[in-house]
Amino acid sequence: MRKNIVAGNWKMNKNLQEGVELAKELNEALKNKTVNCDVVIGTPFIHLASVVNSVDTTRIGVAAQNCADKESGAYTGEVSAAMVASTGAKYVILGHSERRAYYHETPELLKEKVKLALANGLTPIFCIGEVLEEREANKHFEVVKSQVEESLFELSPEDFSKIVLAYEPVWAIGTGKTATADQAQEIHAFIRKTLAGQYGQEIADNTSILYGGSCNAGNAKELFSNPDVDGGLIGGASLGVDKFMPIIEAF
Ligand code: PGA
Repeated sequence: MRKNIVAGNWKMNKNLQEGVELAKELNEALKNKTVNCDVVIGTPFIHLASVVNSVDTTRIGVAAQNCADKESGAYTGEVSAAMVASTGAKYVILGHSERRAYYHETPELLKEKVKLALANGLTPIFCIGEVLEEREANKHFEVVKSQVEESLFELSPEDFSKIVLAYEPVWAIGTGKTATADQAQEIHAFIRKTLAGQYGQEIADNTSILYGGSCNAGNAKELFSNPDVDGGLIGGASLGVDKFMPIIEAF
């Protein structure tokens, strides 16, 4: 059966020392504790190797927030999936709405990144989600459907089984506005149905679909109690152990 996952997305926050400190604090907080979900932290590239060496990686998975769409070579400033994997990181967040909006990442480009992530043994946490105008025009279902279709549905069933999805309505990210538990359940169930249509019910049932967008200690329990919400991708509230731990413990 699918896993529950609580994943932090630090975005472009914390210098190296602060990041290592936060990772160590989280590691300490999780010590001798039984939690009912997998815990992941998504750090800037430059933090990856140090964070991997500062935590018990059997308890905390480490994620990059991006990787290159090319294998290697003359691509100044890029970081490949192989490089990410060589740090000991196990996950990579791909297709975050901030990357789609500010860095013009297209479905085609994301398809390449997903392929390279998988080829290097990384688990992609693939983000999808509609903007406010699309939600208001009742287009959110078709938007998320095409986002998974365009970037993921050429994967073999075996490869698709390695993907974690994160539904993040763009209007809820960093805004303090959260989707209601009902809105989250409705679209998560729709996403799972879409996956079942392509890959069959078993693979769909085994795919973890996380919710992201102003998820916090106050709303996590209600969101995670939905049958099709398998955890969260947490931005702001992952930047302090005091805020992140209660979300982990919401399971
Ligand atoms: P937020 O970010 O929790 O700060 O809204 C979530 C995300 O962008 O992954």
